[in-house]
Amino acid sequence: MDLKSIENIVSLCKRRGFIFQSSEIYGGLGSTWDYGPLGTEMKKRIKDDWWQNIVTARANVVGMDSSILMHPKVWEASGHISNFNDPMVDCKQCKSRYRADHIDINKPCKKCGNKDWTEPRQFNLMFKTSIGPVEDDANIAFLRPETAQGIFVNFNNVQTTARQKIPFGIAQIGKAFRNEITTGNFLFRTREFEQMEMEFFVHPDDTSEWLKYWSQERLNWFVQLGITKNKLRLRPHGDDELAHYSSACNDIEYEFPFGWSELEGIADRGTYDLDQHIEHSKKKLNYFDPKTNNRYIPAVVEASAGVDRAFLTCLVDAYTEEEVREEKRVLLKLSPKIAPITCAVFPLVNKDGLPEIAEKVVKDMRKYFSAFFDQGGSIGKRYRRQDEAGTPFGVTIDHETTKNGTVTLRDRDSMEQVRISKNAICDLIKEKINIEIN
Ligand code: GAP
Repeated sequence: MDLKSIENIVSLCKRRGFIFQSSEIYGGLGSTWDYGPLGTEMKKRIKDDWWQNIVTARANVVGMDSSILMHPKVWEASGHISNFNDPMVDCKQCKSRYRADHIDINKPCKKCGNKDWTEPRQFNLMFKTSIGPVEDDANIAFLRPETAQGIFVNFNNVQTTARQKIPFGIAQIGKAFRNEITTGNFLFRTREFEQMEMEFFVHPDDTSEWLKYWSQERLNWFVQLGITKNKLRLRPHGDDELAHYSSACNDIEYEFPFGWSELEGIADRGTYDLDQHIEHSKKKLNYFDPKTNNRYIPAVVEASAGVDRAFLTCLVDAYTEEEVREEKRVLLKLSPKIAPITCAVFPLVNKDGLPEIAEKVVKDMRKYFSAFFDQGGSIGKRYRRQDEAGTPFGVTIDHETTKNGTVTLRDRDSMEQVRISKNAICDLIKEKINIEIN
């Protein structure tokens, strides 16, 4: 797949209602995107699958949902006010702005060809706002740049109310905001995005063991989401790449058309965050170990994934162009567990009672999975639309249905069709979805 394919994916996303440019009717706002009906469904499925895998399926991980606005001291304590910076340079001629660590300032500007750079300056990535009607330094607030701090400041609340014993995790999904200097590659780097984060609290002696465990667990999650295994890898960070809070980190990377890039970081944050919040809040954030009768400050292994990056990865990995009977067919080979529509139902013609039967079949299906009734255009066109939407199953109601109660079931990837009883179709699809899931 080449870079052009990203453009093809962007246009498919618009055509089928996965993603639209934000504020499009006003000319759009750079690097901000809105999820349309199909995109919203698919994103929800990715988040639900993460939640199922991380929280619902485990007795030792609990969920929470903290606020986006937090006390400004949180960001002082976390180190984001002093350390969450990127170095920035501007081209004095054409005013283009770059991250100094992403370009070679010994070379000319890529846009205008001049070599006339400003000195690199540190730029804090947090979005600043103010609380209340008066804007002054006393009421500054920040939009959170990571969801993790909402978990750390609630460590005592959650540990005591959920009566969890170490090792245990706290997970949440939510929006994060970063005033990135350079954005791009569609959903890959934006200023507003969603994170799925889990902070796993362990004894400080056990962090390397848990880092290894969670790195493998998280890699497995991307594989079971249907992403091609050999396009995923785990890459340990070099010392010069580590964030200000971490002593070791493994990135899960995917081979995008624009190169291997990070989907998720699994980091050993040690006791950094709880230490910092203890110092700044003067509160005791520690753990009483009933086995040893000792109190200690737990260390943290964090798994931090971007929802939008996972979404983009599923799209890029599923996007396929092939030739069928000398015509180009575009399809998304999405796993049925994340495909926005599970089954589309088509009456072959719009008469002879076929649409009525199709509508009834759709109604039955909707009790169990998402189904879509489509009677517009030729059957070939309807199949192609659903292929582009990634719909794994298509059911056609034809004249044989009225005679013997059978329908055809079409498989998106092989395009093979089998005839089966109308009454067996829901169970068969449910079974197929479960086979995929397990
Ligand atoms: N709490 C740790 C943390 O936030 P990070 O590596 O800065 O670590 C974690 O971010 C994940 O969040 C990344 O792996 C990526 O998937 C996602 N992410 C970070 N910045 C992003 C951006 N500007 N746009 C989209 N996703 C982003």
